[in-house]
Amino acid sequence: MELQSLPPKSGDHNLKNYEEAVKHFDWAEVEEAFTFHKTGKVNMAHEAIDRFAEKDGKKDQVALYYSDDQRDEAYTFAEMKKMSDKAANVFKEAGIEKGDRVFIFMSRSPELYFAALGAIKIGAIIGPLFEAFMEGAVRDRLENSEAKAIVTTPELVGRVPVSELPALEKVFIQGDDVKEEGKTLDFKGRMEQASESHDITWVDREDGLILHYTSGSTGTPKGVLHVHAAMIQHYQTGKWVLDLKEDDVYWCTADPGWVTGTSYGIFAPWLNGVTNVVRGGRFSPESWYGTLEKYNVTVWYSAPTALRMLASAGDEIVKNYDLSSLRHILSVGEPLNPEVVRWGHEVYGLRIHDSWWMTETGAIMITNFPSLTVKPGSMGKPIPGVEAGILDDQGNELPPNRMGNLALRTSWPAMMRTIWNNEEKYQGYFEFPGWYVSGDSAYKDEDGYYWFQGRVDDVILTAGERVGPFEVESKLVEHPAVGEAGVIGKPDPVRGEIIKAFVALREGYEETDELKEDIRNFVKNGLAAHAAPREMDIRDKLPKTRSGKIMRRVLKAWELDLPTGDLSTMDDD
Ligand code: WTA
Repeated sequence: MELQSLPPKSGDHNLKNYEEAVKHFDWAEVEEAFTFHKTGKVNMAHEAIDRFAEKDGKKDQVALYYSDDQRDEAYTFAEMKKMSDKAANVFKEAGIEKGDRVFIFMSRSPELYFAALGAIKIGAIIGPLFEAFMEGAVRDRLENSEAKAIVTTPELVGRVPVSELPALEKVFIQGDDVKEEGKTLDFKGRMEQASESHDITWVDREDGLILHYTSGSTGTPKGVLHVHAAMIQHYQTGKWVLDLKEDDVYWCTADPGWVTGTSYGIFAPWLNGVTNVVRGGRFSPESWYGTLEKYNVTVWYSAPTALRMLASAGDEIVKNYDLSSLRHILSVGEPLNPEVVRWGHEVYGLRIHDSWWMTETGAIMITNFPSLTVKPGSMGKPIPGVEAGILDDQGNELPPNRMGNLALRTSWPAMMRTIWNNEEKYQGYFEFPGWYVSGDSAYKDEDGYYWFQGRVDDVILTAGERVGPFEVESKLVEHPAVGEAGVIGKPDPVRGEIIKAFVALREGYEETDELKEDIRNFVKNGLAAHAAPREMDIRDKLPKTRSGKIMRRVLKAWELDLPTGDLSTMDDD
């Protein structure tokens, strides 16, 4: 059953008339909001922090509220400038230069944000990593990008295989009493000593800003490179999609290890001069509702899995919190079930606005705007300045209501500029001239709303995280008991999908619960907890093509009790 459409909320939205905006849109006009438009001098950190730190009426506004179970802090725009200037000086004194890759591998904390902004100020390219990453995942990313420095903590540094990474010259550790020796530098001590005055490095708008590693269906994770010019779209979508106004208190729940936690957890809010809330620690309904209440959050950007977890915590708990400050809720990362939209409307009294985009696109591309009707289950319409289309497998555009490949007309400001060290992979997105092909399938209805149908490839979306089956399979077969492994996403009511592994054991190994647990832990400790299969089936052999590739399509059919389709390429001896 299609849920009833939700009409636009009344309110003074930044984007008042979507159709008009689409007609008259020009990216060049958006640039007038930035100081680089007048000065020609570009740096993301200047536009996000420094220009507000120099402005009366803005400089003493809180830029960052940070809290977790131990800490509870606030930093104004002026203080953010000071701390990021100090961090920039720390990097500069250690010999880090423009274009160098500086990775940030720590749990959420104010220092993470100082380090990220500081590295951007000297023109370095930042590479954020999830704190959940284990040694193998860290090594792959630092090796591929030839990272020169990493900022980490005493708890996590053990997972950085420093001796195996010849390009890695500096390991900054944020912790108490860090002893400097070899490559190790004391980030906290150096921050305390560092000068507060710093001359920012001006860069070209096409210079590298950030590298986000993300998964595809084949090969190791790819390093998606974004440049400073992405700010144009971060700012614009912050204004029109997140509907940010300068007195808003905004909370994006995503970790900066994921592109949502940088594009919309660092750049978009600060480019729009709003107060940004960061909550560390684990998810619990109490801590999340408590955060909304404590800071009087007005705009909240989260994800379907979290919203489903909140829904399953029930309606009663919501009544214990004063959420009256909330005026706008958004979601990203996986399909937002119509049921969750309906539930949110009932308990929060607000529509939940879906938004669709990818690490590669760098910023929101399709969304439900506040001034448009929401059709629950639909992702909404393309942002002004972006044209979307549904293509068949030959690259022809399909009419409404036909399912096909979701594609976008190239290009837009936040578009990735390359895949690091892999131009061939990058070119793979542009199989049809003039289009970027997303890898998602979708259809467009007669009103121009887009409806997500699934991934075209085997990429798994579990709790909003994009996991490449190949990476998990590669880790599985490193386990001494595992001969072959195939990994699929299995539908799950809360997480969207869970990772399910099919494994054939080597000679001499017997299936036991202990062994399965050991294999799971092997992936957990080698890659990351979220990459470990939640379910595992042991089989005598796995379906393979004649060239030896595991047929994940057949595994999926086994799992879902579907017909296995064309098996003509299967090797069946
Ligand atoms: C999926 C960066 C359904 C999609 C934000 C996409 C979504 C992949 C939505 C990108 C949505 C993202 N509805 N699916 N609103 N938003 N996706 O790069 O398959 O980690 O290709 O996310 O997430 O994943 P990424």
